[in-house]
Amino acid sequence: MADEDFIVTPWDVEGVVDYDKLIERFGTEPITPELLKRIQKHTGRLHFMLRRDLFFTHRDLNWLLDEYEKGNPFYLYTGRGPSEKTHIGHLVPWIFTKWLQDKFGAEFIFQMTDDEKFLFKEDLSMEETKELAYDNALDVIALGFDPKKTQIIIDTENAKTLYNIALPIAKKITFSTVKASFGFENSANIGQIFYTSIQAAPAILKSVQQGKNIPCLIPHGVDQDPHFRVCRDVLPKLGYYKPASIQNKFIPSLLGPAGKMSASNPNSTIYVTDTPKQVKNKINKHAFSGGQPDIETHRKLGGNPDIDVSFQWLKILFEPIDKKLDEIELAYRNGDLLTGELKAILIEKVTKFLIHHQKEREKAKDKLEDFIVRD
Ligand code: TYM
Repeated sequence: MADEDFIVTPWDVEGVVDYDKLIERFGTEPITPELLKRIQKHTGRLHFMLRRDLFFTHRDLNWLLDEYEKGNPFYLYTGRGPSEKTHIGHLVPWIFTKWLQDKFGAEFIFQMTDDEKFLFKEDLSMEETKELAYDNALDVIALGFDPKKTQIIIDTENAKTLYNIALPIAKKITFSTVKASFGFENSANIGQIFYTSIQAAPAILKSVQQGKNIPCLIPHGVDQDPHFRVCRDVLPKLGYYKPASIQNKFIPSLLGPAGKMSASNPNSTIYVTDTPKQVKNKINKHAFSGGQPDIETHRKLGGNPDIDVSFQWLKILFEPIDKKLDEIELAYRNGDLLTGELKAILIEKVTKFLIHHQKEREKAKDKLEDFIVRD
């Protein structure tokens, strides 16, 4: 990080991310009020993740909506690199994708990149990443996607299909492009260098299968943009549309605003399989607070919800009702609500959310075969 204040790559997020700067760095478009109005015309009331600027940037959304309005519908594509249990940050783009599927009636491809995680994680075997792919798929299914419109592709289970699509893409990407886009050193293994063409493949999978170009929209966290920047350069050369994207900010680590949640520190996040006791302990012990050091000062000066992780988690994921969120924000700012009380609100919300999710996750075990595709 010597000459940069923050880093965002698909494999590494460091520092406090300045999202306006990131838009400039990556060359994406901000989501403007006009664009929000345009989306709203089709969806009715906007999802709170759009209203609250969590989805903040995009590529070619206006083009995608032009096509949609001309009667050329799009499909959705997103994914997961299964290197551990799913945490609540991963759910952000998936919950939003579910909303898009409901509103636009869109077909949906979900890619589980067990190959990627095998190549990038020193300590994981192929058996482990495949097992995690099946495990994480339960969390996708638990969110309620339409089985008739949703396919989950685990890369190693779809090697023939994906390899045949990835090869012509790979042929058009040079080593120097990959190095510049992802910051690889010469010590990178050659699987890592090839990998981006596999993540590009689902962006044209439906077009290949149906023998005609079909627009694709990829909702994802902003860290994945470098993959799609590369693939957007290549796909038109092969006669395909560039995929459009809509990109979210990160839900901050429990420990504070710097960086993404990390598997190496289980206290930095909450896993979807955590128990109520774990949730309570983690939030009470570790959630970074924007409150004052003692009650008297807090009552006088109030807390700062902008840096308070409990408040940010409510805003991003756990309190969809604007009025309730506004009340909490006001009470915290003016000192009526103490840090411990704010944490208690979050604990209750997260616990309720997880109890429901875990129930659906159990049920998903019987539905796996309705979603998983193999070639
Ligand atoms: P992965 O497994 O790192 O992350 C899965 C998705 O979650 C997003 N994400 C977050 N969003 C909000 N807050 C966070 N703290 C947070 N952490 C992660 C990621 O941006 C991602 O959208 N290579 C990919 C897998 C993949 C993929 C795709 C992702 C394959 N095809 C298409 C998006 C779209 C990966 O390892 O994601």
